[in-house]
Amino acid sequence: MEGLGIFGATDMIGAVASIPALLSGAMSHVYYSYTEILAVVGVFYIMWKMFNFLYFCYTLIQLHVTPWLLNKTKHIQHYGEWAIVTGATAGIGKEYAEELAKHGMNILLISRSKEKLQEVSDAITKTYGVKTRFIIADFSRGQDVYPTIKEVVDDLDIGILVNNAGLFYEFPERFAKVPEDKVWEIINVNIAAAVMMAHIVLPGMVERKRGAIVNVTSATCCQPVPMMTLYAATKVIIIYVCHAAGLFIYSITKHIKIKELFITSHTFYHM
Ligand SMILES: NC(=O)c1ccc[n+]([C@@H]2O[C@H](COP(=O)([O-])OP(=O)(O)OC[C@H]3O[C@@H](n4cnc5c(N)ncnc54)[C@H](OP(=O)(O)O)[C@@H]3O)[C@@H](O)[C@H]2O)c1
Repeated sequence: MEGLGIFGATDMIGAVASIPALLSGAMSHVYYSYTEILAVVGVFYIMWKMFNFLYFCYTLIQLHVTPWLLNKTKHIQHYGEWAIVTGATAGIGKEYAEELAKHGMNILLISRSKEKLQEVSDAITKTYGVKTRFIIADFSRGQDVYPTIKEVVDDLDIGILVNNAGLFYEFPERFAKVPEDKVWEIINVNIAAAVMMAHIVLPGMVERKRGAIVNVTSATCCQPVPMMTLYAATKVIIIYVCHAAGLFIYSITKHIKIKELFITSHTFYHM
């Protein structure tokens, strides 16, 4: 195998251990060849990758192992008494509503169908013994739904907002072929609803100095996706809005932090 460039674990550890020596050696003399410059770039690149990997391991432990070990899951209630979940009657939203109720939070459910809302909120109250309320709202209708939501929300101690409601086309499609109505529907549900809900709850959270906003986005937000053009783009916007708002709020209160959480299977970003 000699000369084939195949590294064993010992070679790898040796290579990593020699990084500081290589680095200080490289720094101490003038570079005469491209090879030396490339070696230094390579060292920095490996260090950057290692740092990222270690940070990823740290985040993983902090998110999934520490709460389990310290039984810290109850800390969710410290955010506030109520959690709002949009699109709470099916799929990921319903799971969020149930999980938050399991941790003792009262749930405010928002979606279109009164029958489904009634059924899910009754089931949550019966199973977890928490309070529930619901608002019938069709986010695709635009601006009209928010005054009612604001009226209800202003009277509650909202600790967590889960921006979950979101639409995709019936099947992947070229952007120009997506019907105009569908374009507006997707913009209203995926962008406007998430942005407006954050806009409604944030002042209360900032005043109380606690709160969390969870944005359920998609892996498609990581890059432009041609056959999902609009859907993928809508999933980026809310991350930018909350990041910028969160950074600003953090700069003045230090109580609201921004975190990103990437979960596989069904994927989320979390602020
Ligand atoms: N499923 C996936 O594989 C996947 C992958 C990545 C990301 N996501 C994201 O995860 C989120 C949830 O997806 P899901 O598949 O769990 O959804 P889902 O099963 O289709 O459930 C959608 C929920 O939203 C509500 N809803 C639909 N249109 C609405 C509107 N115009 N106004 C208000 N509420 C509305 C529905 O209730 P009503 O019908 O009663 O209104 C239902 O409660 C979405 O943001 C999606 O983009 C999903």
